[in-house]
Amino acid sequence: MDDASNIQRTVDGKLRHLLTLDGLSRSAITELLDRAASWQYRERKDGGKSRPDKSDKLAGRTVANLFFEASTRTRASFELAARRLGADVLNLDIQRSSHQKGETIVDTVITLEAMGVDTFVIRTSSAGASLAVARSVGAGVNVLNAGEGNLSHPTQGLLDLLTIRNHKRDFEGLRAVIVGDIKHSRVARSAATGLATMGVTDIRLCAPPSLRPADGSVPGEVVDGSLDDALNGADIVMALRIQKERFVDDDQLPDLKAYHEQYGITSRRLEIANRDALVMHPGPMNRGVEIDDAVADGPQSVIREQVASGVAVRMAVLQSVAALDVSA
Ligand code: CP
Repeated sequence: MDDASNIQRTVDGKLRHLLTLDGLSRSAITELLDRAASWQYRERKDGGKSRPDKSDKLAGRTVANLFFEASTRTRASFELAARRLGADVLNLDIQRSSHQKGETIVDTVITLEAMGVDTFVIRTSSAGASLAVARSVGAGVNVLNAGEGNLSHPTQGLLDLLTIRNHKRDFEGLRAVIVGDIKHSRVARSAATGLATMGVTDIRLCAPPSLRPADGSVPGEVVDGSLDDALNGADIVMALRIQKERFVDDDQLPDLKAYHEQYGITSRRLEIANRDALVMHPGPMNRGVEIDDAVADGPQSVIREQVASGVAVRMAVLQSVAALDVSA
């Protein structure tokens, strides 16, 4: 068990930080998903959807969003989640912060901790940063990884699981195909880890040879054949963006037209998967590259549901880590 997985729990096993899904048990994940389900939108009789009432469970607490990398979904949903639970929210403008003068992430966090921030939500390209921060903060302060290099994106993994659980009776027996730039994808790592923990044994990792993960770094089996072969019998089809920002050498970027021809999720390809297969994508999407419009916006797509699940999951995580300190 690695350091991040150890430090995120108290000696009696309760979640204090969320840095990784590695080492979280099936029951711990189920507890988070159950809590998130209670914060999901509800179908109304008129066909509309109702948001659960706001709550004051985090009243008096302060959540700081520190996003050292770009984000739409994660940042907005953490902010909405914290506000809907009654917390105060600080969105640090990194471009105008002292980070630009060379201050480290740890020093920024310690500075804000002195101002009374209780929970830090951190996105960074720097693998290992959330662990370093978690080691530095005082008792009662929580650190939530909102996407860290190519290492992990635990709340994304949880929202993927919640979305799947809303459609499929059981995780066991599902066949999941993850396709795209798996080598650079923290989403793939967290999704595959979460799926494996929940009992999915058939996880197929399909990528061009240059974008395959290092041996054993992502749970699942790397597919040697074509995407068409991999999709046969799939219940879950998760497409990933090519993470241009993580390529050391731009010359290694695949030709997008050729990539789409071999690895793009098209309507024709989706017909190979099971009829009730779910189409997933963490966003942001590059339409026409890893996924076609007709699939992204089609009846099997749950991509918008993933976004909605993100708010509920982040409410559950914020509430769970705070529950160590307050009656939440
Ligand atoms: N899925 C995801 O992390 O999206 P953002 O980069 O927009 O937060």
